[in-house]
Amino acid sequence: MNFKKIAGIEAAKYVKDGMIVGLGTGSTAKYMVDEIGRRVKEEGLTITGVTTSNETERQAKSLNIPLKSIDEVPYVDLTIDGADEISADFQGIKGGGAALLFEKIVATYSKKCIWIVDDSKMVEKLGKFPLPIEVIPYGSQQLMHLFEEKGYQPTLRLDDEGKTLITDGGHNIIDLHLNEIDNPVEFGHYLDQLVGVVEHGLFLNTVSLVIVGNQDGPQTIK
Ligand code: 5RP
Repeated sequence: MNFKKIAGIEAAKYVKDGMIVGLGTGSTAKYMVDEIGRRVKEEGLTITGVTTSNETERQAKSLNIPLKSIDEVPYVDLTIDGADEISADFQGIKGGGAALLFEKIVATYSKKCIWIVDDSKMVEKLGKFPLPIEVIPYGSQQLMHLFEEKGYQPTLRLDDEGKTLITDGGHNIIDLHLNEIDNPVEFGHYLDQLVGVVEHGLFLNTVSLVIVGNQDGPQTIK
């Protein structure tokens, strides 16, 4: 059984005619986008999608899902996206797929957000998954030094060819190996005020619903 697929297909049921839908990024979100594409084709579902990455845009276009950019819509009704870790109190780490900036922008202007994950992503406390920080290339080595001094064990993310990864927004990603984040809100505020940091992968108080795929099927947690 593919737990990511189970969650993705279940989440697509929340999409209704006329909605403006934020389409997340990653291997779980891919199943949700496929299912929305199927509904558009086979059921005549009429939605407008707002994509969160170039990758999802390519997929949505190939499925003939009508799209608009985030700046062409007044708001987004519902965004469905994956996550890398979700804590017991529904805080999350995102950005494993390097799309955290656009994902956070779309989530911010969404009336409702749903995360879709397999059960391995549910944790007690955030931090085992390296926390992605999107940074401006200029001065990024200074941020690397700063994070090293703080003991955050930073690594500059590389692409598949071993070159410094460039995000869709033209930035780099530094992953922080923290192991545990005691106070995600406080740590998020610290990161927010660092010059050169564009955005971080702590998604706090973002979702009201999580759909977890596991061996018993989709579990919806509120
Ligand atoms: C991309 C993300 C993804 O949603 C997250 O990494 C989960 O991906 P996957 O569903 O492939 O495990 O935040 O930036």
